[in-house]
Amino acid sequence: MSDYPASVTVTESSPRDGLQSLSAFVPTDAKAGLIDGLATTGLTTFDAVSFVSPKWVPQMADGAEVVRAVTSSDLRLIGLVPNMRGLESAIEAGLTDIGVLTSASDTFSQRNINATVDESMHRIRRIVLDSPEELTFRAYISTATHCPYEGEQDPDWVAHLAETLAEWGVEEIFLGETIGMGTPAHVARLLDEVLDVVPVHVVGVHFHDTYGQAIANTLVALERGIDKMDSSAGGLGGCPYAPGASGNVATEDLLWMLDGLGIEHGVDLKGVAGVAQRFCAEHGLAYNSRAGRAATARAEPDD
Ligand code: HMG
Ligand code: MG
Repeated sequence: MSDYPASVTVTESSPRDGLQSLSAFVPTDAKAGLIDGLATTGLTTFDAVSFVSPKWVPQMADGAEVVRAVTSSDLRLIGLVPNMRGLESAIEAGLTDIGVLTSASDTFSQRNINATVDESMHRIRRIVLDSPEELTFRAYISTATHCPYEGEQDPDWVAHLAETLAEWGVEEIFLGETIGMGTPAHVARLLDEVLDVVPVHVVGVHFHDTYGQAIANTLVALERGIDKMDSSAGGLGGCPYAPGASGNVATEDLLWMLDGLGIEHGVDLKGVAGVAQRFCAEHGLAYNSRAGRAATARAEPDD
């Protein structure tokens, strides 16, 4: 029995997750232009920038400038921060939506943010509890099914982390399938454990598509009533500390499935495909959405 939500909020991850691993620097105006272009298609929530060490991730060094250069109004721009220093930069840039980071596995957490899981949880606790009330927090639990260094992760442990974050008042808890190895059976086990201890309206999913499982995994989340999901226009992306991982589920592929299921999302699929295809062509990047390619290649019956 499925319990699909009536509508979902799609968070567009291409500006941050989609670009962070690229070695050629994408100019600030092009990053802001990507957000502005995608905003014309109905997307309003963006995994927009990160405030991380420019030595570790040079591509994200211009987070504050990107925020300033965005011209569209009424967007929810999320700034990802790994520590207090990042939080201060995000606040200075005028953001009120903050993403914080932990992981199921110690090795990934060490490589990604130079902190054990325990240390990262303590950082999050301090950030969330000591912050001004107007801030909203989204926590990512990376490697929620598999770690590139430690292998398969225990759903029970991930549920424990999620429950702890919820107790601290984190408004949104996103399960990060960082390397896209998880299959629907594993994701179902994970979500059942998590939803046992955290209300469904708090939970979101962030699936990478490395093994081609992201759409199937998204369906498993929708069947459980989850109404928050990250995706990336043109399937752009990956994590610099998860070698070989490809981008998030393509926004266009996600929208096509949502349309078929009759789930509202408020976004124009062809519009997203057009913006992403232009961006990929301008920056020499591969365009990786099958639905987007198909939708822009042929006239639809209502065209
Ligand atoms: P560290 O070296 O342990 O940090 O790195 P530190 O406190 O010792 O500081 C070292 C230097 O970094 C100092 O500069 C600090 O000022 C500076 P120096 O004195 O050498 O010139 N620094 C900063 N600069 C700017 N912003 C900051 C900041 N903090 C310190 N916030 C640190 C620790 C966390 C900084 C580093 O490991 C880091 O930046 N990591 C971020 C890695 C990253 O961005 N990973 C990708 C995002 S996560 C992801 O993609 C997963 C996700 O998509 C979900 C999923 O797919 O599962 C969200
Ligand atoms: Mg990611």
